[in-house]
Amino acid sequence: MSSIVAIDAGGSTTKVYDGVQLRQFPSTISYDWRERNMESNGPYDFEWTYNGERGFAGTLAQRESDCADSQKGDTKAHPEALLRVLLALHQFCTAPAPQIIVGQPIKTHTPGEKGAIKQMLQARHDITVNGQRRIIVIQRCEVAAEGVSAGLLVPGGGVVRVLDIGSGTVNFGTLIDRQFNDLGSFTLSKGLETLRAAGPLAFARQIARKAIAGGWKRDDRVYLCGGGAEALLGFLQQYFPAAEVIPDPVTANVRAFYMIARKFYG
Ligand SMILES: Nc1ncnc2c1ncn2[C@@H]1O[C@H](COP(=O)(O)OP(=O)(O)OP(=O)(O)O)[C@@H](O)[C@H]1O
Ligand SMILES: [Mg+2]
Repeated sequence: MSSIVAIDAGGSTTKVYDGVQLRQFPSTISYDWRERNMESNGPYDFEWTYNGERGFAGTLAQRESDCADSQKGDTKAHPEALLRVLLALHQFCTAPAPQIIVGQPIKTHTPGEKGAIKQMLQARHDITVNGQRRIIVIQRCEVAAEGVSAGLLVPGGGVVRVLDIGSGTVNFGTLIDRQFNDLGSFTLSKGLETLRAAGPLAFARQIARKAIAGGWKRDDRVYLCGGGAEALLGFLQQYFPAAEVIPDPVTANVRAFYMIARKFYG
């Protein structure tokens, strides 16, 4: 297995791609480890111990914890995102010293936040998952921008717009002739799991308004990815008739991150 691993540690789902296999598991974490009288173990059931803390993660946290949750928001410079990355590496990367690439919303894809993520990840980690202790040395870590990176999966030049509709964020990306365009790229700090009552129509309207306020035009080529892509497509086509979904929209970011990492790490 290659030692280059891309990880999109989303607020809802963590996606992992090593150039060969794509995997996904729920980003759910709990800190209330307990002994169970009845154990059943699925492929994404994790019991973890790290840095003096212990809990459940993945589908096990969803089933067996009273207070499982997954942190959402417009930055991934936080300890839960670190834990998602380490769970992904522990489970799906056999290399002891991988080179990795992770994602960060466009809004906080700043030198300060990126530096905080690199500092948190680029280290020696001692983590036990399902009774198996591993030392993982993250040799190098790069931080890619969510959403806009997925535009690299779309062939051709010109203006390409991307809407990455996730659980806690919507990333608006613009590429011009395959170069990232900062002016047309931004983040709405709201996603499918943070809405109180809004349905897809209301949310699509808000997304479209923000895009239009940011300079996007009705006839632009708009590509959707993220977990909300299919559900919002019809509503967004009312504002952007040429909108379409990137094939396998949920893994679009992580596949693009891997492409970037291959170039970066050579
Ligand atoms: N068919 C569907 N209809 C509506 N929502 C869906 C559908 N499938 C998935 N979702 C939602 O998509 C979200 C997960 O999408 P995605 O994996 O892109 O989010 P994420 O990357 O984990 O979050 P973020 O990018 O905000 O960190 C979940 O909130 C889920 O409820
Ligand atoms: Mg996402």
